Amino acid sequence: MQDAPGPCRVVAFVRGWSPDRAGVLELERVRAHLRGLSAELVFESEHGTWLLRPDDDPRPIERLGRTRFRVDDDEDGVFVIVASEAGPGTIEASGAVRFAHCQRSPIAGTLAPALQRATDVMLAQAPLHFTRRAWLTTCVVSGFALAVLSACKQKPSREEPEPAVRAPEAGELDIVLDVNGTKHPLRIEPRVSLLDALRERLLLTGTKKGCDMGQCGACTVHVAGKRVLSCLTLAVAVQGKPITTIEGVAKAGELHPLQRAFCEHDGMQCGFCTPGQIMSGIAILDENRATDDDAIREQMSGNICRCGAYPNILAAIKAARGGAS
Ligand code: FES
Ligand code: FES
Repeated sequence: MQDAPGPCRVVAFVRGWSPDRAGVLELERVRAHLRGLSAELVFESEHGTWLLRPDDDPRPIERLGRTRFRVDDDEDGVFVIVASEAGPGTIEASGAVRFAHCQRSPIAGTLAPALQRATDVMLAQAPLHFTRRAWLTTCVVSGFALAVLSACKQKPSREEPEPAVRAPEAGELDIVLDVNGTKHPLRIEPRVSLLDALRERLLLTGTKKGCDMGQCGACTVHVAGKRVLSCLTLAVAVQGKPITTIEGVAKAGELHPLQRAFCEHDGMQCGFCTPGQIMSGIAILDENRATDDDAIREQMSGNICRCGAYPNILAAIKAARGGAS
């Protein structure tokens, strides 16, 4: 086993793009992908160069060297380089990137769809001889590059064979998770929790990891309509069952009534516990367990809020229930 050299860094050249021109939602989507990849993004356009770490504001940095890469004025699209501290490299037949790639792509306009496509490709990639984290970053990096390659209208300079679909290794299982109405094929080890499958494989990072040991409720999701702690639930145990996460409770662009009530009653401060609070709150409303204040407190007692927003959470649940007790 060997480690991938250097951190995973995605570098993108995007014509006409800058943090203040990007929508808030688009930046959040990019952040979510970066969190899932444990990566940081350097992006450059004619307006400047920025470093974006998932939990920081975009930070202007010095422009990248212009000897090898430039943004053509007459080309639309996303220009992508994937690189690490090991320096430039090539895409190998296996799909691995070692360790830089430059390509132009007609995936016009936004980074988030390109990252999403990279993730899709990642899920079909074979692991190489790397550690788990190195495997993840390498596959995502190669996935990102391959997504760009596949969308590129230019004729490739040489034919790249399709990466082989590998057979499961010992101890791995092929399963399908039905999350928010979409079926996701996954190849995982049986020990992977539903929480890690959601956050690290499907990049549904709305479900939070607080304690990872069943004590805080931040990871609450619904399985077949019942609330469960996803950190204590094995992903293989819920295959085929409908799973709902916080990303799936708004319908047709409308917030769930309890989400609206949380906004109207200030049911959060830092917001870390909020997805779990809302998933628990929806469940007790659906089960008619929110009969009075004490019942709500009792039923919500598994969801800890470090900020102490309990009075407002109670008020939100009562409002969503349709009246104060
Ligand atoms: Fe699951 Fe805390 S993360 S209960
Ligand atoms: Fe901060 Fe609940 S709002 S932990």
